[in-house]
Amino acid sequence: MYNYNFNEIIDRTGSNCLKKDKLHERFGRSDIIPMWVADMDFKTPDFILNAISERCKHAILGYSFAGDEYYAAITHWLAQRHHLDVQSAMTGFLPGIVPGLALSVGCFSKPSDKVIVQPPVYPPFVFVPQHNNRRLVCNPLMLKNGRFEMNITQFREFCSDARTTMFLLCNPHNPGGRCWTETELAKIAEICAENNVMVVSDEIHSDLVLPGHKHTAFASVSETARQNSITLMAPSKTFNIPGLGSSFYFSHNAELKKRFASFLKKSELAEGNIFAFVATQAAFENGEEWRRQLLVYIDANIRFVDNYLKQHIPQIKAIVPEASFLIWLDCREMRLSQHDLVSFFINKARLALNDGLSFGEGGEGFMRMNVGCSRVILQKALEQLKEAVHQIQLSQFLSTESN
Ligand SMILES: Cc1ncc(COP(=O)(O)O)c(C=O)c1O
Repeated sequence: MYNYNFNEIIDRTGSNCLKKDKLHERFGRSDIIPMWVADMDFKTPDFILNAISERCKHAILGYSFAGDEYYAAITHWLAQRHHLDVQSAMTGFLPGIVPGLALSVGCFSKPSDKVIVQPPVYPPFVFVPQHNNRRLVCNPLMLKNGRFEMNITQFREFCSDARTTMFLLCNPHNPGGRCWTETELAKIAEICAENNVMVVSDEIHSDLVLPGHKHTAFASVSETARQNSITLMAPSKTFNIPGLGSSFYFSHNAELKKRFASFLKKSELAEGNIFAFVATQAAFENGEEWRRQLLVYIDANIRFVDNYLKQHIPQIKAIVPEASFLIWLDCREMRLSQHDLVSFFINKARLALNDGLSFGEGGEGFMRMNVGCSRVILQKALEQLKEAVHQIQLSQFLSTESN
Protein backbone atom coordinates (compact mmCIF):
# COMPACT_ATOMS: atom_id res chain seq x y z
CA MET A 1 0.00 0.00 0.00
CA TYR A 2 1.28 3.47 -0.90
CA ASN A 3 1.81 5.86 2.00
CA TYR A 4 0.91 9.42 1.11
CA ASN A 5 3.18 12.03 2.66
CA PHE A 6 1.13 14.79 4.24
CA ASN A 7 4.18 16.11 6.10
CA GLU A 8 5.76 17.41 2.90
CA ILE A 9 5.93 21.20 2.81
CA ILE A 10 5.39 22.71 -0.62
CA ASP A 11 6.06 26.41 -1.08
CA ARG A 12 3.03 27.79 -2.88
CA THR A 13 4.52 31.29 -3.28
CA GLY A 14 4.33 32.65 -6.80
CA SER A 15 1.78 30.10 -8.05
CA ASN A 16 -1.05 32.67 -7.97
CA CYS A 17 -2.11 30.91 -4.80
CA LEU A 18 -5.01 32.85 -3.30
CA LYS A 19 -4.18 31.73 0.22
CA LYS A 20 -0.49 32.71 0.01
CA ASP A 21 0.02 35.28 -2.72
CA LYS A 22 -2.91 37.49 -1.66
CA LEU A 23 -1.84 37.73 1.97
CA HIS A 24 -0.56 41.27 1.72
CA GLU A 25 -3.60 42.48 -0.19
CA ARG A 26 -6.07 40.87 2.23
CA PHE A 27 -4.28 41.10 5.58
CA GLY A 28 -1.88 44.01 5.11
CA ARG A 29 1.23 41.88 5.55
CA SER A 30 2.74 38.76 4.06
CA ASP A 31 4.90 37.50 6.95
CA ILE A 32 1.99 35.52 8.39
CA ILE A 33 0.99 31.85 8.16
CA PRO A 34 -1.92 31.39 5.73
CA MET A 35 -4.73 29.42 7.40
CA TRP A 36 -7.76 30.97 5.72
CA VAL A 37 -8.91 30.02 2.16
CA ALA A 38 -10.37 26.49 2.34
CA ASP A 39 -7.93 24.54 0.23
CA MET A 40 -5.21 22.29 1.64
CA ASP A 41 -1.43 22.67 1.45
CA PHE A 42 -1.04 18.96 0.64
CA LYS A 43 0.13 17.86 -2.77
CA THR A 44 -2.75 17.07 -5.10
CA PRO A 45 -2.51 13.25 -5.40
CA ASP A 46 -0.43 11.81 -8.23
CA PHE A 47 -3.28 9.78 -9.66
CA ILE A 48 -4.95 13.11 -10.52
CA LEU A 49 -1.82 14.97 -11.66
CA ASN A 50 -0.85 11.98 -13.82
CA ALA A 51 -4.30 11.78 -15.41
CA ILE A 52 -4.06 15.47 -16.32
CA SER A 53 -0.51 15.05 -17.67
CA GLU A 54 -1.62 12.04 -19.66
CA ARG A 55 -4.44 14.08 -21.25
CA CYS A 56 -1.94 16.85 -22.06
CA LYS A 57 0.06 14.36 -24.11
CA HIS A 58 -2.69 14.56 -26.66
CA ALA A 59 -1.73 17.45 -28.91
CA ILE A 60 -5.09 19.23 -28.87
CA LEU A 61 -7.07 20.66 -25.96
CA GLY A 62 -10.17 21.37 -27.98
CA TYR A 63 -13.87 21.62 -27.10
CA SER A 64 -14.78 18.66 -25.02
CA PHE A 65 -17.72 17.01 -23.29
CA ALA A 66 -18.34 14.90 -20.22
CA GLY A 67 -18.14 11.29 -21.36
CA ASP A 68 -19.95 8.24 -20.02
CA GLU A 69 -16.88 7.33 -17.91
CA TYR A 70 -17.12 10.68 -16.09
CA TYR A 71 -20.75 10.07 -15.12
CA ALA A 72 -20.05 6.41 -14.29
CA ALA A 73 -17.25 7.47 -11.89
CA ILE A 74 -19.60 9.91 -10.14
CA THR A 75 -22.55 7.55 -9.82
CA HIS A 76 -20.34 4.69 -8.65
CA TRP A 77 -18.74 6.92 -5.99
CA LEU A 78 -22.15 8.12 -4.79
CA ALA A 79 -23.37 4.52 -4.52
CA GLN A 80 -20.25 3.24 -2.74
CA ARG A 81 -19.65 6.14 -0.42
CA HIS A 82 -23.10 7.57 0.21
CA HIS A 83 -25.44 4.67 -0.58
CA LEU A 84 -27.16 6.87 -3.12
CA ASP A 85 -28.85 5.39 -6.13
CA VAL A 86 -28.14 8.13 -8.66
CA GLN A 87 -28.38 7.49 -12.39
CA SER A 88 -26.26 9.45 -14.88
CA ALA A 89 -29.41 11.12 -16.21
CA MET A 90 -30.04 12.65 -12.78
CA THR A 91 -26.68 14.44 -12.72
CA GLY A 92 -24.92 17.25 -14.52
CA PHE A 93 -21.70 19.24 -14.51
CA LEU A 94 -21.34 22.45 -12.49
CA PRO A 95 -18.47 24.94 -12.81
CA GLY A 96 -18.33 25.20 -8.99
CA ILE A 97 -20.52 24.88 -5.93
CA VAL A 98 -20.86 28.62 -5.35
CA PRO A 99 -21.95 29.08 -8.98
CA GLY A 100 -24.29 26.14 -8.29
CA LEU A 101 -25.83 28.00 -5.34
CA ALA A 102 -26.31 31.12 -7.45
CA LEU A 103 -27.77 29.14 -10.35
CA SER A 104 -30.15 27.27 -8.02
CA VAL A 105 -31.36 30.54 -6.54
CA GLY A 106 -31.83 31.95 -10.05
CA CYS A 107 -33.56 28.86 -11.38
CA PHE A 108 -35.86 27.84 -8.52
CA SER A 109 -36.80 31.12 -6.81
CA LYS A 110 -38.07 34.54 -7.88
CA PRO A 111 -36.80 38.01 -6.97
CA SER A 112 -38.01 39.02 -3.49
CA ASP A 113 -38.73 35.40 -2.49
CA LYS A 114 -37.43 34.52 0.95
CA VAL A 115 -34.48 32.14 1.22
CA ILE A 116 -33.52 30.51 4.54
CA VAL A 117 -29.90 30.09 5.60
CA GLN A 118 -28.42 29.04 8.96
CA PRO A 119 -25.59 31.29 10.13
CA PRO A 120 -22.84 31.26 11.05
CA VAL A 121 -22.38 29.86 7.56
CA TYR A 122 -19.97 29.92 4.59
CA PRO A 123 -20.33 33.56 3.37
CA PRO A 124 -21.75 32.88 -0.16
CA PHE A 125 -24.86 31.38 1.49
CA VAL A 126 -25.58 34.92 2.66
CA PHE A 127 -24.40 37.03 -0.24
CA VAL A 128 -25.63 34.85 -3.12
CA PRO A 129 -29.36 35.29 -2.27
CA GLN A 130 -28.76 38.96 -1.45
CA HIS A 131 -26.92 39.66 -4.72
CA ASN A 132 -29.80 38.03 -6.56
CA ASN A 133 -32.44 40.22 -4.88
CA ARG A 134 -33.85 37.49 -2.68
CA ARG A 135 -34.80 38.24 0.89
CA LEU A 136 -32.53 36.49 3.30
CA VAL A 137 -34.09 34.76 6.30
CA CYS A 138 -31.55 33.78 8.94
CA ASN A 139 -32.30 30.87 11.22
CA PRO A 140 -29.16 31.02 13.39
CA LEU A 141 -27.66 27.78 14.61
CA MET A 142 -27.46 27.32 18.36
CA LEU A 143 -24.12 26.42 19.92
CA LYS A 144 -24.80 23.95 22.74
CA ASN A 145 -21.94 22.31 24.64
CA GLY A 146 -19.54 22.97 21.78
CA ARG A 147 -21.84 21.57 19.09
CA PHE A 148 -24.15 23.35 16.68
CA GLU A 149 -27.83 22.50 16.58
CA MET A 150 -30.64 23.71 14.34
CA ASN A 151 -33.50 25.75 15.72
CA ILE A 152 -36.25 23.58 14.29
CA THR A 153 -39.14 25.48 15.89
CA GLN A 154 -38.08 28.76 14.32
CA PHE A 155 -37.27 26.98 11.06
CA ARG A 156 -40.84 25.74 10.89
CA GLU A 157 -42.17 29.26 11.47
CA PHE A 158 -39.98 30.69 8.70
CA CYS A 159 -41.08 27.97 6.28
CA SER A 160 -44.75 28.64 6.97
CA ASP A 161 -44.40 32.10 5.41
CA ALA A 162 -45.73 31.67 1.86
CA ARG A 163 -43.01 33.98 0.55
CA THR A 164 -40.32 31.50 1.66
CA THR A 165 -39.50 29.25 -1.27
CA MET A 166 -35.98 27.95 -0.67
CA PHE A 167 -33.65 26.62 2.01
CA LEU A 168 -29.89 26.52 1.43
CA LEU A 169 -28.55 23.64 3.52
CA CYS A 170 -24.86 23.29 4.27
CA ASN A 171 -24.32 19.56 4.93
CA PRO A 172 -21.83 19.02 6.57
CA HIS A 173 -21.89 22.54 7.92
CA ASN A 174 -19.13 25.10 7.38
CA PRO A 175 -18.04 26.45 9.82
CA GLY A 176 -18.47 24.25 12.87
CA GLY A 177 -18.22 20.99 10.96
CA ARG A 178 -21.54 19.46 11.99
CA CYS A 179 -22.65 16.33 10.14
CA TRP A 180 -26.42 16.65 10.34
CA THR A 181 -28.12 13.46 11.46
CA GLU A 182 -30.78 11.50 9.65
CA THR A 183 -33.33 12.59 12.28
CA GLU A 184 -32.50 16.29 11.86
CA LEU A 185 -32.53 16.07 8.06
CA ALA A 186 -35.74 14.05 7.91
CA LYS A 187 -37.47 16.67 10.08
CA ILE A 188 -36.20 19.49 7.86
CA ALA A 189 -37.26 17.57 4.75
CA GLU A 190 -40.76 17.10 6.07
CA ILE A 191 -41.20 20.75 7.10
CA CYS A 192 -39.87 22.00 3.76
CA ALA A 193 -42.07 19.69 1.70
CA GLU A 194 -45.20 20.60 3.70
CA ASN A 195 -44.54 24.27 2.98
CA ASN A 196 -43.33 24.06 -0.63
CA VAL A 197 -39.85 25.18 0.33
CA MET A 198 -37.27 23.63 -1.96
CA VAL A 199 -33.96 22.41 -0.51
CA VAL A 200 -30.57 23.02 -2.10
CA SER A 201 -28.06 20.84 -0.26
CA ASP A 202 -24.39 21.81 -0.54
CA GLU A 203 -22.49 18.62 0.28
CA ILE A 204 -19.01 19.69 -0.81
CA HIS A 205 -17.49 18.53 2.52
CA SER A 206 -19.31 15.18 2.54
CA ASP A 207 -16.29 13.05 1.65
CA LEU A 208 -14.26 14.56 4.49
CA VAL A 209 -16.18 13.09 7.37
CA LEU A 210 -13.83 12.36 10.25
CA PRO A 211 -13.43 8.98 11.96
CA GLY A 212 -16.33 8.20 14.26
CA HIS A 213 -18.80 10.37 12.33
CA LYS A 214 -21.15 9.81 9.44
CA HIS A 215 -22.34 11.90 6.53
CA THR A 216 -26.02 11.60 5.78
CA ALA A 217 -26.85 12.77 2.29
CA PHE A 218 -30.00 14.86 2.34
CA ALA A 219 -31.33 12.83 -0.59
CA SER A 220 -30.90 9.64 1.39
CA VAL A 221 -33.29 10.43 4.23
CA SER A 222 -36.68 10.00 2.53
CA GLU A 223 -38.53 10.02 -0.75
CA THR A 224 -39.90 13.41 0.34
CA ALA A 225 -36.35 14.74 0.64
CA ARG A 226 -35.33 13.26 -2.73
CA GLN A 227 -38.26 14.74 -4.60
CA ASN A 228 -37.86 18.22 -3.13
CA SER A 229 -34.13 18.82 -3.47
CA ILE A 230 -31.11 19.31 -5.58
CA THR A 231 -27.68 18.31 -4.21
CA LEU A 232 -24.41 20.01 -5.09
CA MET A 233 -21.20 18.02 -4.71
CA ALA A 234 -17.57 18.05 -5.83
CA PRO A 235 -14.28 16.17 -5.50
CA SER A 236 -12.57 19.55 -5.05
CA LYS A 237 -12.16 19.76 -1.26
CA THR A 238 -11.30 16.11 -0.71
CA PHE A 239 -8.71 15.82 -3.47
CA ASN A 240 -7.39 19.37 -3.30
CA ILE A 241 -8.40 20.45 -6.79
CA PRO A 242 -10.66 23.47 -6.13
CA GLY A 243 -8.79 25.50 -8.76
CA LEU A 244 -10.26 23.27 -11.48
CA GLY A 245 -13.94 24.20 -11.12
CA SER A 246 -15.02 20.58 -11.07
CA SER A 247 -18.41 20.17 -9.41
CA PHE A 248 -21.68 18.45 -10.20
CA TYR A 249 -25.29 18.30 -9.11
CA PHE A 250 -27.97 15.67 -8.98
CA SER A 251 -31.68 15.47 -8.31
CA HIS A 252 -33.98 12.47 -8.12
CA ASN A 253 -36.82 14.69 -9.24
CA ALA A 254 -36.81 14.55 -13.05
CA GLU A 255 -38.69 17.84 -13.35
CA LEU A 256 -36.23 19.72 -11.11
CA LYS A 257 -33.29 18.14 -12.94
CA LYS A 258 -34.74 19.19 -16.30
CA ARG A 259 -35.42 22.75 -15.18
CA PHE A 260 -31.92 23.10 -13.74
CA ALA A 261 -30.21 21.60 -16.79
CA SER A 262 -32.06 23.98 -19.07
CA PHE A 263 -31.28 26.96 -16.80
CA LEU A 264 -27.58 26.04 -16.99
CA LYS A 265 -27.80 25.70 -20.74
CA LYS A 266 -29.48 29.10 -21.09
CA SER A 267 -26.72 30.56 -18.91
CA GLU A 268 -24.15 28.93 -21.22
CA LEU A 269 -22.58 27.21 -18.24
CA ALA A 270 -23.43 23.58 -18.86
CA GLU A 271 -20.41 22.55 -20.90
CA GLY A 272 -17.54 22.10 -18.45
CA ASN A 273 -13.84 21.77 -19.20
CA ILE A 274 -11.48 18.95 -20.03
CA PHE A 275 -9.43 19.05 -16.82
CA ALA A 276 -12.47 19.07 -14.56
CA PHE A 277 -13.74 15.90 -16.24
CA VAL A 278 -10.36 14.17 -16.20
CA ALA A 279 -9.64 15.08 -12.57
CA THR A 280 -13.09 14.12 -11.27
CA GLN A 281 -12.94 10.76 -12.96
CA ALA A 282 -9.40 10.07 -11.71
CA ALA A 283 -10.35 11.15 -8.17
CA PHE A 284 -13.43 8.98 -7.92
CA GLU A 285 -11.85 5.95 -9.63
CA ASN A 286 -8.64 5.95 -7.58
CA GLY A 287 -9.16 8.13 -4.55
CA GLU A 288 -10.50 6.01 -1.71
CA GLU A 289 -7.11 5.13 -0.18
CA TRP A 290 -5.88 8.74 -0.39
CA ARG A 291 -9.11 9.91 1.24
CA ARG A 292 -8.72 7.39 4.05
CA GLN A 293 -5.12 8.39 4.80
CA LEU A 294 -5.91 12.11 4.48
CA LEU A 295 -8.67 11.85 7.07
CA VAL A 296 -6.37 10.13 9.54
CA TYR A 297 -3.91 13.02 9.16
CA ILE A 298 -6.55 15.74 9.39
CA ASP A 299 -8.15 14.10 12.40
CA ALA A 300 -4.76 14.03 14.15
CA ASN A 301 -4.25 17.72 13.26
CA ILE A 302 -7.61 18.57 14.78
CA ARG A 303 -6.85 16.65 17.96
CA PHE A 304 -3.43 18.30 18.06
CA VAL A 305 -5.06 21.77 17.99
CA ASP A 306 -7.72 20.82 20.53
CA ASN A 307 -5.17 19.39 22.97
CA TYR A 308 -2.73 22.24 22.46
CA LEU A 309 -5.40 24.84 23.17
CA LYS A 310 -6.63 23.00 26.27
CA GLN A 311 -3.09 22.73 27.57
CA HIS A 312 -1.57 26.08 26.62
CA ILE A 313 -4.28 28.53 25.52
CA PRO A 314 -7.45 27.64 27.44
CA GLN A 315 -8.98 31.06 26.64
CA ILE A 316 -9.48 29.80 23.06
CA LYS A 317 -11.63 26.73 22.52
CA ALA A 318 -11.89 24.54 19.43
CA ILE A 319 -15.36 23.61 18.26
CA VAL A 320 -14.18 20.16 17.22
CA PRO A 321 -15.52 19.45 13.73
CA GLU A 322 -17.13 16.18 12.68
CA ALA A 323 -16.04 16.79 9.09
CA SER A 324 -13.42 18.67 7.09
CA PHE A 325 -10.25 20.57 7.90
CA LEU A 326 -11.72 23.81 9.24
CA ILE A 327 -11.83 24.55 12.96
CA TRP A 328 -14.19 27.15 14.40
CA LEU A 329 -12.33 28.78 17.26
CA ASP A 330 -14.28 30.24 20.14
CA CYS A 331 -12.19 33.24 21.24
CA ARG A 332 -14.92 34.97 23.27
CA GLU A 333 -13.05 34.53 26.54
CA MET A 334 -10.30 36.77 25.21
CA ARG A 335 -12.77 39.62 25.64
CA LEU A 336 -11.54 41.56 22.62
CA SER A 337 -13.74 43.50 20.22
CA GLN A 338 -13.99 41.76 16.82
CA HIS A 339 -11.77 44.42 15.32
CA ASP A 340 -9.13 43.84 17.99
CA LEU A 341 -9.46 40.06 17.74
CA VAL A 342 -8.83 40.13 13.98
CA SER A 343 -5.93 42.51 14.43
CA PHE A 344 -4.54 40.32 17.25
CA PHE A 345 -4.42 37.26 14.97
CA ILE A 346 -2.78 39.17 12.12
CA ASN A 347 -0.38 41.46 13.90
CA LYS A 348 0.42 39.66 17.15
CA ALA A 349 0.00 35.94 16.39
CA ARG A 350 0.95 36.51 12.73
CA LEU A 351 -1.68 34.10 11.48
CA ALA A 352 -4.12 34.61 8.62
CA LEU A 353 -7.46 33.13 9.68
CA ASN A 354 -11.00 33.93 8.56
CA ASP A 355 -12.82 36.55 10.58
CA GLY A 356 -15.74 34.83 12.34
CA LEU A 357 -18.00 37.77 11.61
CA SER A 358 -17.74 37.13 7.86
CA PHE A 359 -19.87 34.01 8.51
CA GLY A 360 -22.75 36.19 9.66
CA GLU A 361 -24.82 36.16 12.83
CA GLY A 362 -23.17 34.19 15.64
CA GLY A 363 -19.69 34.78 14.24
CA GLU A 364 -18.64 37.49 16.65
CA GLY A 365 -15.83 36.35 18.96
CA PHE A 366 -14.91 33.49 16.61
CA MET A 367 -12.21 32.85 14.01
CA ARG A 368 -11.93 30.00 11.50
CA MET A 369 -8.66 28.10 11.24
CA ASN A 370 -7.72 25.88 8.27
CA VAL A 371 -5.66 22.89 9.45
CA GLY A 372 -5.18 21.31 6.02
CA CYS A 373 -1.41 21.72 6.38
CA SER A 374 1.61 19.82 7.62
CA ARG A 375 1.86 19.20 11.37
CA VAL A 376 5.10 21.19 11.56
CA ILE A 377 3.42 24.33 10.22
CA LEU A 378 0.45 23.77 12.49
CA GLN A 379 2.70 23.48 15.52
CA LYS A 380 4.52 26.68 14.53
CA ALA A 381 1.18 28.47 14.19
CA LEU A 382 0.02 27.34 17.61
CA GLU A 383 3.31 28.35 19.21
CA GLN A 384 2.95 31.83 17.68
CA LEU A 385 -0.59 31.99 19.00
CA LYS A 386 0.45 30.91 22.49
CA GLU A 387 3.23 33.49 22.57
CA ALA A 388 0.87 36.25 21.40
CA VAL A 389 -1.77 35.37 24.01
CA HIS A 390 0.84 35.42 26.74
CA GLN A 391 2.06 38.80 25.55
CA ILE A 392 -1.38 40.40 25.74
CA GLN A 393 -2.05 38.79 29.11
CA LEU A 394 1.20 40.25 30.36
CA SER A 395 0.43 43.71 29.06
CA GLN A 396 -3.13 43.54 30.51
CA PHE A 397 -1.61 42.48 33.87
CA LEU A 398 0.95 45.29 33.80
CA SER A 399 -1.66 47.91 32.94
CA THR A 400 -3.89 46.71 35.85
CA GLU A 401 -0.91 46.84 38.19
CA SER A 402 -0.03 50.38 37.19
CA ASN A 403 -3.64 51.60 37.67
C1 LIG B 1 -19.80 24.82 2.11
C2 LIG B 1 -18.97 25.26 0.93
N1 LIG B 1 -19.56 25.35 -0.29
C3 LIG B 1 -18.84 25.74 -1.37
C4 LIG B 1 -17.50 26.04 -1.28
C5 LIG B 1 -16.73 26.48 -2.49
O1 LIG B 1 -17.14 25.77 -3.61
P1 LIG B 1 -16.58 26.11 -5.06
O2 LIG B 1 -15.14 26.44 -4.91
O3 LIG B 1 -16.82 24.85 -5.83
O4 LIG B 1 -17.40 27.24 -5.58
C6 LIG B 1 -16.87 25.96 -0.03
C7 LIG B 1 -15.46 26.35 0.10
O5 LIG B 1 -14.95 26.54 1.17
C8 LIG B 1 -17.63 25.56 1.09
O6 LIG B 1 -17.07 25.45 2.30
